Amino acid sequence: MGQPLNIGIVGVGAISGQYLAAFERLDAVRLAAVADLDEARAKEVADAHGARALTVDALLADPEVDLVLNLTIPAAHADIALRAIAAGKDVYGEKPLAADLGDAKAVLDAAREAGVRVGCAPDTVLGTGIQTARKAVDDGLIGAPVAATASMLCPGHERWHPNPDFYYVPGGGPLLDMGPYYVTALVTLLGPVASVVGAASHTRDTRVIGSGPRAGETIPVSVDTHVTGVLRHESGALSTLVMSFDSVATRASNIEVHGQTGSLIVPDPNHFDGEVRLHALGGEWETLPPSAGYRGAGRGYGVADLATTPPGQPFRANGDLAYHVLETMTALLRAAHEGTAITVESTCARPAAVPLQDAPGE
Ligand SMILES: NC(=O)c1ccc[n+]([C@@H]2O[C@H](COP(=O)([O-])OP(=O)(O)OC[C@H]3O[C@@H](n4cnc5c(N)ncnc54)[C@H](O)[C@@H]3O)[C@@H](O)[C@H]2O)c1
Repeated sequence: MGQPLNIGIVGVGAISGQYLAAFERLDAVRLAAVADLDEARAKEVADAHGARALTVDALLADPEVDLVLNLTIPAAHADIALRAIAAGKDVYGEKPLAADLGDAKAVLDAAREAGVRVGCAPDTVLGTGIQTARKAVDDGLIGAPVAATASMLCPGHERWHPNPDFYYVPGGGPLLDMGPYYVTALVTLLGPVASVVGAASHTRDTRVIGSGPRAGETIPVSVDTHVTGVLRHESGALSTLVMSFDSVATRASNIEVHGQTGSLIVPDPNHFDGEVRLHALGGEWETLPPSAGYRGAGRGYGVADLATTPPGQPFRANGDLAYHVLETMTALLRAAHEGTAITVESTCARPAAVPLQDAPGE
């Protein structure tokens, strides 16, 4: 492996700890600097990880930073990405690619013009859970895929997140927040989406923060919090989706994929691993051993995957995939409001399968 890619993180809130932990075991990347609007927080994280704390402007201009890892809230994703691209940096951001599709397109267009790379979460789909399921589909273990179901039902993130405001404004909601895991997994398993129909509801105008210093504070809700729909994949397979912040509990599988000769239970796409179960026609449920994907992966493996992919080659957690996923989700919300089927204009390649291995580049 060559020199590690030097990473500058903008936004070191709740999720940053998972990236920082993964970077310590990945040779392909090296933490150079961090920045946050909360400068004391940036300094604390920098000191704990032997990196430099900078202002956002200084980090974006820093010659040592090769890639800006954008872990800010969705409303800031496009602005930070565009500023990083203007500074000539590669960018990799948390999901969604942007809070709105027009902004996401602007990011991809600017990156193309500047000749820099755009990566985007989720990279959970590169772990052994989704990759083993994908290999089962590709190896024909369920025959021709016909349909999938995807269910994410929970009471809402305000119960545990200390600053949950962003989950209830555009760019959030159960679909834009959790949908990227599910739709990216469905595209990985069944290929890109051609059109969508949907229905959605906005059940409450406010939520109450359940933990942290702001516990008890009421926050506004301006998005749909129960979203359902059907995605018609280009292959003809149909995926039925339910994403809800309005449910107390569920026993539905996160994802099931059904083919002409078998059914698969796919583990939680918000996790990297988990049990894949197959029921072949005429047989019984059996657990498939991990057969593909990065073993023991965590958030940040998608950055390392980009870092170890030669320039000009397609890396897996890429902006075109994230854009297609975002367009599919925004089309679903439009379909729900307009009561009509909506064509998804973009498409993308299914990212390359990940052979079973410990880390990108090995
Ligand atoms: N919390 C989770 O469990 C989780 C899981 C997966 C993905 N994500 C995604 O990660 C992203 C961040 O989520 P989080 O939970 O860490 O949020 P957070 O609010 O805990 O942290 C965001 C951080 O970004 C900083 N920030 C915001 N705007 C900024 C700007 N313009 N410039 C510099 N810093 C800025 C904030 O000060 C804060 O420290 C979101 O896109 C979210 O969807 C979160």
